[in-house]
Amino acid sequence: MTGLTGLFVTFEGGEGAGKSTQIRMLAVSLRGLGQHVVVTREPGGSPGAEAVRHVILSGAAERYGTRMEALLFAAARNDHVEEVIRPALQAGKVVLCDRFLDSSRVYQGTTGNLEPAFIERLQNVAVNGVMPDCTLILDLPAAIGLERARQRAVGPSSSNGPDRFEKEELDTHEKRREAFLELAERDPLRCRVIDATQSREKIARQVLAVVAPLLPLQRRDRFAFPEDAT
Ligand code: TYD
Repeated sequence: MTGLTGLFVTFEGGEGAGKSTQIRMLAVSLRGLGQHVVVTREPGGSPGAEAVRHVILSGAAERYGTRMEALLFAAARNDHVEEVIRPALQAGKVVLCDRFLDSSRVYQGTTGNLEPAFIERLQNVAVNGVMPDCTLILDLPAAIGLERARQRAVGPSSSNGPDRFEKEELDTHEKRREAFLELAERDPLRCRVIDATQSREKIARQVLAVVAPLLPLQRRDRFAFPEDAT
């Protein structure tokens, strides 16, 4: 994409798939390789989008329907793209984002019963041309993911219970899992499915193996000959 010299990687999947752990581990590996890495998440990632995140995840917008929620996710996404993601990519950085437009396709589209054409139009406006170069879909049975998310919600690091989306039925989460797998099948050049039931070290190695070949060239000065070398 014109002017965007960085690499944009998104992580997707159901609840409790271990996205944030994998993002942390990948960021450490990439920084070790000399890359400038920005770690971010959705909904949120910019001050404006974080304000909207609270409205959505508290359930405050639920009574106004899925269409309203989809619009709020899109508003947050657009702010995040323009304030954080595009500038980082223009500066040649690697952006690792926990969820992006595929979550809207799955959560608001497939299980929110909104028409695909509406969701796609909304995403066009939200991302405004900034599409992920690579999307890692961490896949695991919904029952396992929900159990992990539940433990996290009652665990010592949690301040609140399950959010608006974690509360939904197992059957809904299974539908989301299938929808992510279908997305991956439809867009195999961008999406890679990773078995998230494996150990986190094994997943991390697979994630790095997918991302490393896509990295932007190291900054030119790292390869330049010293001035006095001639
Ligand atoms: P979060 O606390 O970030 O959870 P997770 O660890 O599962 O990513 O909550 C984000 C929730 O919002 C999650 O349940 C998925 C949902 N979501 C959507 O429904 N649509 C979207 O476009 C995005 C980005 C998230």
